[in-house]
Amino acid sequence: MILHSAILLCLLTIGRANADIVSGKLQKRQIDPSAQASCRNFYADIYAETKSNVDLRSVIGRPPENQQALNELFLSTYAVGSTITQRISSAPHIEVKEAYSIYFEYCEPSGTTPKGIYQTHHGLVATADYWNVQVDDSVGVYSFAENAAANGWATLSYDRLGVGRSAHPDGTNIVQIPYEIEQSVGIARALREGTLGDLGRFDTIVGVGHSYGSGLVTGVTSISPTTFDAIILTGYSSNATDGPIGIIQFQPTISSLAYPERFSSNPNDYVITPTQTNDQLGFFHYPNYTREAIETFTRTKGEFTLGQRYTRGIPATLNRDNYTSPVLVFTGENDGIYCTANCYITSLPPPATQLDKTRELFPSVENFQTFVVNDTGHGINFHTTAREAYRKIFEFVDGLGL
Ligand SMILES: *[C@@H]1O[C@H](CO)[C@@H](O)[C@H](O)[C@H]1NC(C)=O
Ligand SMILES: *[C@@H]1O[C@H](CO)[C@@H](O)[C@H](O)[C@H]1NC(C)=O
Ligand SMILES: *[C@@H]1O[C@H](CO)[C@@H](O)[C@H](O)[C@H]1NC(C)=O
Ligand SMILES: *[C@@H]1O[C@H](CO)[C@@H](O)[C@H](O)[C@H]1NC(C)=O
Repeated sequence: MILHSAILLCLLTIGRANADIVSGKLQKRQIDPSAQASCRNFYADIYAETKSNVDLRSVIGRPPENQQALNELFLSTYAVGSTITQRISSAPHIEVKEAYSIYFEYCEPSGTTPKGIYQTHHGLVATADYWNVQVDDSVGVYSFAENAAANGWATLSYDRLGVGRSAHPDGTNIVQIPYEIEQSVGIARALREGTLGDLGRFDTIVGVGHSYGSGLVTGVTSISPTTFDAIILTGYSSNATDGPIGIIQFQPTISSLAYPERFSSNPNDYVITPTQTNDQLGFFHYPNYTREAIETFTRTKGEFTLGQRYTRGIPATLNRDNYTSPVLVFTGENDGIYCTANCYITSLPPPATQLDKTRELFPSVENFQTFVVNDTGHGINFHTTAREAYRKIFEFVDGLGL
């Protein structure tokens, strides 16, 4: 694998803490002979416009002045009789028309023309690296991008707005899911037109999400039903509960307080999980992962915004009648957030799982399939089951004849 000078240039321009992670990864991959993917990263300004962001400041106010104020905001959100969610859904909408700098990682199979491209969307508490997990020397063990390349596909991942190496605008009123949905549509359009960096044109684009990123992808299928030729929703179902597991898992903490060495420049509406215990509760199923995997997760995780937290439910309210392309829902058996930690418990008739409830979001889709990844938590890509599980995704996509 050739380390382009452009990559070195990129490394010099990104933050110190992140630079260590990225350069470490590239060096390792450069010397690893088993790497199938040829990867490079770059920045691009992505323009998008929406009239559907929410004036969240009119409900929750300015960024919390300290952690105690943030804790109180969450308590009052979950309190019995709370009207916060209702006030957010009836708050005025605001328009956002802006270009923001986005960090991309592109990977393609070495030496062959890709069959198509996966456009990925990571979840909360992650970055683009979720799709290219590198634990020690394990190039192909966890990395979605490596396994996709081995199967002949390219992967385009990016730090979503407000995360990691991408721009960090107003975390309450700008960094919200309605704007991010439009951004994803714009990125896919640039791929089809061949105007994103030097990547060239792609005719076949499969939208892949994880968690919040899956919700985002369902939003894309509503406002632009032909953007993706198929979608894969991982770490997702339409049966998410904010129950007892939900509230304790993330323990959202002002990111600059939780990890000042990484996030000191973030305003107080940028938050993150504060400990590895929270990361385990939110993302892992013991013991089906290694100690190194969870340590990598905690070391490389990304921040999210209150704007994202309080608008993540919006896609579920949209109409998807015009989306007719294939859907695969793909979630760990023990996913706490989307299956209350057991996807097999369902009120639907057998052999359904909770994932099948998601079908109701796609009334016009004929090819709707689900797959439960056994012995796996919400953060599928960090489990020892990941590689086997990816095969199911590739089988599904290969079977579509795209
Ligand atoms: C999960 O871990 C348990 C205990 O080590 C093991 O018995 C089981 O086979 C693992 N599951 C998978 C799917 O690898
Ligand atoms: C579906 O497509 C039709 C025809 O283009 C359009 O009139 C209609 O508004 C679309 N529905 C939604 C929910 O976007
Ligand atoms: C949704 O999840 C709950 C557990 O939180 C479960 O009891 C219920 O059956 C699930 N609904 C469906 C349709 O699977
Ligand atoms: C996954 O676990 C379920 C429930 O424990 C079991 O019925 C099923 O056979 C398992 N699937 C695989 C592929 O091992």
